[in-house]
Amino acid sequence: MSSPLSLVVLISGSGSNLQAIIDAIENNHINARISAVISNQSSAYGIERAKKQDIPTEIIEHTTFATREEFDSALMQTIDQYTPDLVVLAGFMRILGNDIVQHYLGRMINIHPSLLPAYKGINTHKRVLQDGMAEHGASVHFVSPELDGGPVIIQAKVLVKKQDTPETLADRVLAKEHIIYPKVIDWIANDRLKLESGNAVFDGCILEKPVIYQC
Ligand code: GRF
Repeated sequence: MSSPLSLVVLISGSGSNLQAIIDAIENNHINARISAVISNQSSAYGIERAKKQDIPTEIIEHTTFATREEFDSALMQTIDQYTPDLVVLAGFMRILGNDIVQHYLGRMINIHPSLLPAYKGINTHKRVLQDGMAEHGASVHFVSPELDGGPVIIQAKVLVKKQDTPETLADRVLAKEHIIYPKVIDWIANDRLKLESGNAVFDGCILEKPVIYQC
């Protein structure tokens, strides 16, 4: 078996996606190891989750930097100390500038709580309900300079219920996120998935449409 894929996971909050990745590694569903967890929020509960597993943690508070560029540059230097194969944005709530995105092009993925390209940005669950959508979900994509705009790899859908609130909808979407994110990391660890000339390539074929996770 090849050596485990080295991950650096970036978080801002609860870190339930981080936990799903930790659990998938523990259960031998992914051949990876988490080299570090980095948060831009010192209060992020995900930092506690990492410490419980003896994973190195770093806090880089964006509020202590004068500009986005300075924050990005400090973040990049810290990430690179761990020489990751893949940078995993897992509920990381900062927009990254062009330089850092280019630096990790093809080596950085994000999970977003909507069926991209619909509902980029924040408050997706609330907006989906306001628009009376029948369907919602989550997407995993390679990170490109356009916010939530890189090639989408996989999506999982949920049906919106009449009685849903943003919270109930978020819970069902999050449960799907916890399934699809480890799956994508496994594909990358097994060399099945890469970014080539701006396209997501899966098992040697360009993904014209995202894989749809059905369950
Ligand atoms: C997830 O819905 C993620 O897609 C979004 O923020 C939420 C964070 O969840 N960007 P967690 O921190 O992994 O629990």
